[in-house]
Amino acid sequence: MKKTLDDFAPSELTDAAVAVRADFNVPLDRGRVADPTRIERTIPTIARLAATGARVVVLSHLGRPGGRPDLRFTLKPVADYLAGRLDLPVRFLAHSAGPAAAEAVAAQAPGTVMVLENTRFLPGETANDPAIAEEWAGWADHFVTDAFGIAHRAHASNAGLPRAVEAKGGGAAAGLLVEEELTVLGDLLDQPRRPFVAVLGGAKVSEKIGVVEALLARTDVLLVGGAMANTFFLAMGLETGASMTESDQVETAAALMAAAGPRLVLPVDCVAADVLEAGAAARTTDRSEIRLGEIVGDVGPATVALFGGFLAEAATVAWNGPMGVFETAGFEKGTFGVARAAAAAADNGAQVVVGGGDSAAAAAAAGVAPRMTHISTGGGASLDLLAGKELPGIAALSDRPEAVAEGVPA
Ligand code: 3PG
Repeated sequence: MKKTLDDFAPSELTDAAVAVRADFNVPLDRGRVADPTRIERTIPTIARLAATGARVVVLSHLGRPGGRPDLRFTLKPVADYLAGRLDLPVRFLAHSAGPAAAEAVAAQAPGTVMVLENTRFLPGETANDPAIAEEWAGWADHFVTDAFGIAHRAHASNAGLPRAVEAKGGGAAAGLLVEEELTVLGDLLDQPRRPFVAVLGGAKVSEKIGVVEALLARTDVLLVGGAMANTFFLAMGLETGASMTESDQVETAAALMAAAGPRLVLPVDCVAADVLEAGAAARTTDRSEIRLGEIVGDVGPATVALFGGFLAEAATVAWNGPMGVFETAGFEKGTFGVARAAAAAADNGAQVVVGGGDSAAAAAAAGVAPRMTHISTGGGASLDLLAGKELPGIAALSDRPEAVAEGVPA
């Protein structure tokens, strides 16, 4: 168990400089936040720390600016959004580190919020340079992370900094969002109500192989859609036309199918076209009749019915990855159908957990997001957690006091 906000005495936080690592990697549109979901999910942590009298200093990355300043990826719009949402002074500082940051934190009033510039403007951030972590820890009394979306990466601001803060006697704790994510996803791993059905989509078998194996060991049924399914089709000897496939993963796919037997369920039909463009002439076809040159862009209605039948019986559902290119008009019905079936399962009392930005966006576009039990803010992070991998951004946090006292493993 990791330390949480509840493990701080209020007196530890009053007037303390608390570095809050958030994942504010949000889409921007003409200088404004286009989707504030991730910001909204971290506001409770920021507000609670500020209400306790902390000097809240927010660190986040945005995009992949490559270790140097690039104003297309500035966090200023995020600070503006926060300022509009919080009934508190919110300052944006156009520096990610250095003396300017240290001086601004020293001058910061208790109960206020400061957002530093994008941590990925620093060359050492993604390399987890200890010098930057030490420098931040020079002014940070404590560290709190709500950055679940980046927890699978070991970067300076989410893995180096908590260790540096702890080394100088401060606490490194999970914020409210990370605590919720770990509880929900942990329960899914440790004590799922059965039947436990997982739906896995997206493009690449190679990226998700560990997850497929881990989910096959834990779930009753694994439903596979998206371009990933094409590689399984190849392993079955089917024609996949010009669809995205990974020929070097065919043997792996065949071995997975042989090991899983009927517990691994593939699409039975698809929507295919010569090009995956909005309005392209597309046809629904049995998976055994994909033509040369055709590209599979979605699962078909028989698959939605098949997958829906499993979801209707499920007590626990984990969904990660769309069934096709749902952002392209004409190829959205399969993903939306699965989203609706998952939401119906949640309505009937199943625990339905959605992971990954694409699946969350698909649930929102299908109009069913509010009906899901939990929508994870982490795509790669939730997959790594489900695959049983250690998350560097979580491993770096302090152990909970009673876990230390009782010798309970973290
Ligand atoms: C995300 O949006 O998935 C996280 O913020 C991680 O971003 P990254 O893939 O650029 O590290």
